[in-house]
Amino acid sequence: MSASRFSDTVSATLTDDVLVVTIDNPPVNALSADVRAGLMTALDRAEKDNAVVAVILTGAGNTFIGGADIKEFGKPPVEPLLPQVIARIEDFSKPVVAAMNGATLGGGLEVALACHKRDAVPSAKIGLPEVKLGIVPGAGGTQRLPRLIGTAAAIELISNGRVVSASEANKLSIIDSLVENSLIAAAIAAAKSAADLPLRRTGKLPVPSDSEEAIDKAVAEALRKARGQHAPAEAVRLVRLAATTLLDEGLAEERRTFVALRDSEEAAALRHVFFAERAAGKVEGLEKVAPRKIETVGLVGTGLMGSGIAVAALNAGYRVVGIEQTREAADKGRERITGILDKAVQSGRLDTAGRDDRLSRLAVAADAQEFAQADLIIEAVFDDLTVKTELFQRLDGIVRADTILATNTSYLDPNIIAAATAHPERVVGLHFFSPANIMRLLEVVNCHKTAPDVLASALAFAKRLGKLPVVCGVTEGFIGNRIFSAYRREAEFMVEDGALPHEIDAALEAYGFPMGLFAVYDMAGLEIAWARRKRQAPTRDPAARYVVIADRLCEAGRFGQKAGRGWYSYPDGQRTVDPEVTALIEAARAEKGIAPKSFTADEIVTRLLKAMADEGEALLAEGIAARASDIDLVMINGYGFPPHKGGPMFAGGRR
Ligand code: 3HC
Repeated sequence: MSASRFSDTVSATLTDDVLVVTIDNPPVNALSADVRAGLMTALDRAEKDNAVVAVILTGAGNTFIGGADIKEFGKPPVEPLLPQVIARIEDFSKPVVAAMNGATLGGGLEVALACHKRDAVPSAKIGLPEVKLGIVPGAGGTQRLPRLIGTAAAIELISNGRVVSASEANKLSIIDSLVENSLIAAAIAAAKSAADLPLRRTGKLPVPSDSEEAIDKAVAEALRKARGQHAPAEAVRLVRLAATTLLDEGLAEERRTFVALRDSEEAAALRHVFFAERAAGKVEGLEKVAPRKIETVGLVGTGLMGSGIAVAALNAGYRVVGIEQTREAADKGRERITGILDKAVQSGRLDTAGRDDRLSRLAVAADAQEFAQADLIIEAVFDDLTVKTELFQRLDGIVRADTILATNTSYLDPNIIAAATAHPERVVGLHFFSPANIMRLLEVVNCHKTAPDVLASALAFAKRLGKLPVVCGVTEGFIGNRIFSAYRREAEFMVEDGALPHEIDAALEAYGFPMGLFAVYDMAGLEIAWARRKRQAPTRDPAARYVVIADRLCEAGRFGQKAGRGWYSYPDGQRTVDPEVTALIEAARAEKGIAPKSFTADEIVTRLLKAMADEGEALLAEGIAARASDIDLVMINGYGFPPHKGGPMFAGGRR
């Protein structure tokens, strides 16, 4: 066996006449200029060397190739370009086998698709997630994948950027075999056995014919989910092209589209989101702090929020102990949790063994003494300060000295809750969003006295749950609800100034929100916010602008969708503009002597974005949020802000 190095990141060994080429470019073996150059040199060497009968491509560590190097986007291109490397692989005179030792994504899968055979370990995640970055695959993915799996399946995968497990990739025929052990040995055997046969070049294969019906269905679904984003529709167009044009023409059109999208504002926004997600949860000074060990999670309250948190924790492998006040309520809590898991089984997301395993790790009791062994306790009880402070005082006497106490409050001051305990340093806020087993966002509230290792533990816990943690300081409503309040206030000012709720909603939906603000109000119900406004009334600044319209709606019993009437009415379940609401708005304007003016959709969105970004600036100035990009993530993942606009701070130019 002899070893060679072709660049800083690409080296090879000759094993049994097969050149095993390894890409070692941490952290994810991205296809940087150095990797591309190294691969070209390795192929040149393998071509000329008669002792080499075949080539294996593999990655160092747990990743095969994580894709093109996103950090190179926006910089002048450096040859060899990825399509050139890929063409060289596909046209190579000797077999080239991809030994996919882990994640194979984007340009990584495009490299693998050009290989003559693909073997993968069961843990490999495989896909073309480019649309999530606002682009389409730019090195043959849209042309080669349909040749392996058909047009409809390729549209579904590429237009959603869906990443699949190796076993699904195997079923779909993206890979040739799953290899449990000794991947390289298996790949060498496969390469040697291919050496005497005609090479299977993916680009030369015909696209298998799919029924028009299947293709139409995949296209309709892809366009429906795109919600104003350009890349998914372009991905659909390119995949369809593969069946009707020659490979070279398809590749040229794909590259043109890739370059145009890569340089677009939409792609810049999604790249911002990508890097924002990787930065979130990183706290200066916490890098070397070891988190506490968490195995058992205690939950006070197993209602809507508590049961969602329980399922999230069970899914992540924790033991969960739920506590309710009575045996009856505990039984109901267990039923609720079982119900969520049963639904997952019915929809095929979970198998029955998985459900039974989760249930075996769950206990729901009516006795808080059960918490004696818990490492972390999360309270998800009614949002009332007295209830929560009394609860935490009581827990102090039950739990171990090193148990972490977390509050899930949305609006109360967690510093006051922490101060009620003997050890405020063990208290942290974990503000989940409902349904907690589904929503990715988790605001991790760093209270005044939270100990560094408690914060580190909360972040590690969030990561294990598969959540996106964003750290914030203490303020009413934390990051999300503070910005949301500013957004809501401005929208109500605009209604008073002349815009109707459906005009505001239409502008927001055209911008990319899944649902306009007033439609969201109606869906959530108006009464809780009304009760809060009534509570706050005595302390409200009488000089501050206050819009009474929402109060009037509630006084008229218009509590939203459940009541059949709110900002809209809902005959037959259809959201409909209601003249009664328009009259009520006009009366409120007249009372204040406001002459209504009209707003364009652009003016509406600009004014709302400004309100959100201004509030974001305030949060940064107060030290509540550490980065503008954290605010963007909160609004995208918790409040429906369209990701392809990058979040309110990015879109508002506060980058
Ligand atoms: N280019 C450059 N840097 C990348 C990268 C990429 N493709 N993928 C990840 N990174 C960086 C991250 O920014 C992060 O950097 P940091 O440590 O400085 O914060 C580091 O690698 C580790 O990333 P993660 O925290 O995400 O690591 P995980 O182990 O959790 O996940 C992964 C690994 C599954 C590979 C994940 O990083 C990922 O999904 N990466 C993006 C995959 C992707 O979108 N590929 C397509 C790229 S576009 C393309 O290929 C175009 C082509 O068609 C021409």
